[in-house]
Amino acid sequence: MSWLKRLAVLAFAVGLALAALSWWWSRPVAVLAFEPRVASAADALVERGAYLARAGNCMACHTARGGEPYAGGRGIETPFGAVFAGNLTPDPATGLGRWSREDFWRALHHGQSRDGRLLYPAFPYTNTTLVSRADADALFAYLQSLPPVMQATPAHQVAWPFNTQLALGAWRSLYFSPGLFEADPAQSEAWNRGAYLVKGLGHCSACHTARNALGATNDALDLAGGLIPLQNWYAPSLTDPAEAGVSHWSIEDVVRLLKTGVTDDTTVASSKRAWVSGPMGEVVQGSTQHLSEPDLRAMAVFLKALPVSQNTVSTAWVQTHQHGLSSAKMLQGQALYEKHCAQCHGDQGQGKAGSYPTLSLNRAVNMHTTANLVQMLLYGGYSPATEGNPRPYGMPPYVLVLKDSEVAAVLTYVRNSWGNQAPDVSEVEVNRHRNTQGQ
Ligand code: HEC
Ligand code: HEC
Ligand code: HEC
Repeated sequence: MSWLKRLAVLAFAVGLALAALSWWWSRPVAVLAFEPRVASAADALVERGAYLARAGNCMACHTARGGEPYAGGRGIETPFGAVFAGNLTPDPATGLGRWSREDFWRALHHGQSRDGRLLYPAFPYTNTTLVSRADADALFAYLQSLPPVMQATPAHQVAWPFNTQLALGAWRSLYFSPGLFEADPAQSEAWNRGAYLVKGLGHCSACHTARNALGATNDALDLAGGLIPLQNWYAPSLTDPAEAGVSHWSIEDVVRLLKTGVTDDTTVASSKRAWVSGPMGEVVQGSTQHLSEPDLRAMAVFLKALPVSQNTVSTAWVQTHQHGLSSAKMLQGQALYEKHCAQCHGDQGQGKAGSYPTLSLNRAVNMHTTANLVQMLLYGGYSPATEGNPRPYGMPPYVLVLKDSEVAAVLTYVRNSWGNQAPDVSEVEVNRHRNTQGQ
């Protein structure tokens, strides 16, 4: 080899070495420049998962009263017994620590646990089956980012034969098939987003649809109202404007209700005033108040466009129960109202904007099902504390103050004064609600 050739080889080798060196030196810089981007992509996924967990209100069921968030242990009462929501924190022994994304997807989409066990539909997987794979992965990333909490979930207390996999299999063959959300190209993007949230993660149908004797909601689309088993709250129809339907509301009113829990102020016509309470208060508190403006608007677009249907139960019920009001009951009710209620709700049921609901022409007061009125009166309540309504006023409980006949009288008076017109409330009805309150 000539010296020239040797020099060329040497130069080449040195060049290679230099290139390698400069690559080596530049590498940490490149890695440093790259790393934060990897971290922030992971952070963004976790953040999106945290948001979706709000949209699904996973925490409400998966947290025991006074317990660590997401560590499970809350019993969901069903007519077949209590089903305990599990520990979703990444503890390997008692939570999702050993779960893969696939296992998690199978739970949300197919309603099956990691070991293949068919899950009870007290977990609303008939809704979460519509959640997209990307959203499920984000939810999983968020849950895996939580501090692990070691807490075993109590054994379910479901009675035989409903506690068998055979029964669950039969139930599923009747009422469940996994499905993905399919966008309707004839509808706007907002409508489709709203439909995805309301039917999927939001699981509004879990309460707002009647359940049959086997605990199945008739149809995930049907939001025509239902009594929540054992809780004695009625989730009114989202398709009937006389109940919770919002076809006649503006988008802004619906957004305000989901964001703050209240639309009751003097700028809103009486038929559009609402105060959420009880289980719906928990939905606003734990879920909808945290959603973004565009998502709430999308839900409003979808809810407003639901086909309007008059609750046939209510019309039939009103027709068969419309009998003359006893004036003695009305007088008794008026006296009780003036003594116990007028200081907050006003002598004309006009309420006080921002503090106490208007009772005059309030659809919650005039609704055929009196379950919610009796609940409020016996056990009181708070509307949810939200940014738009940070310090809600409370309604005191009257369970120890008023007898059943007195509750019936004051409610009958409220339902038939200041423009209200609704069937009277009987002592038997109050007694039924008092005795079946799940404690
Ligand atoms: C209405 C109450 C409720 C809501 C809301 C709810 N869950 Fe659950 N979840 C349950 C119950 C009850 C179970 C237990 C079912 C069983 O063991 O058969 C469960 C089970 C699960 C399981 C299976 C755990 C296991 O060990 O097999 C996962 C995963 C899960 N839920 C995730 C979620 C996520 C994520 C959300 C929010 C998007 C959510 N859940 C919302 C009640 C709920
Ligand atoms: C845990 C059960 C439950 C779930 C889940 C639920 N609701 Fe409700 N909802 C109720 C009950 C009970 C009422 C009646 C009490 C009240 O008016 O606040 C109600 C009332 C309402 C009202 C009428 C409020 C008023 O005072 O006029 C609207 C609108 C509504 N819900 C929308 C929704 C939407 C949208 C979802 C899904 C994001 C949803 N709900 C999920 C139980 C539920
Ligand atoms: C200290 C004030 C106060 C008194 C006294 C009071 N209430 Fe209330 N009431 C409230 C507040 C605050 C709410 C809203 C609570 C909520 O949203 O959970 C409410 C809610 C209600 C509702 C439900 C309205 C709706 O839109 O859902 C009815 C009905 C009602 N009260 C009737 C009565 C009757 C009847 C009495 C007397 C026996 C009474 N209240 C006494 C403060 C009061």
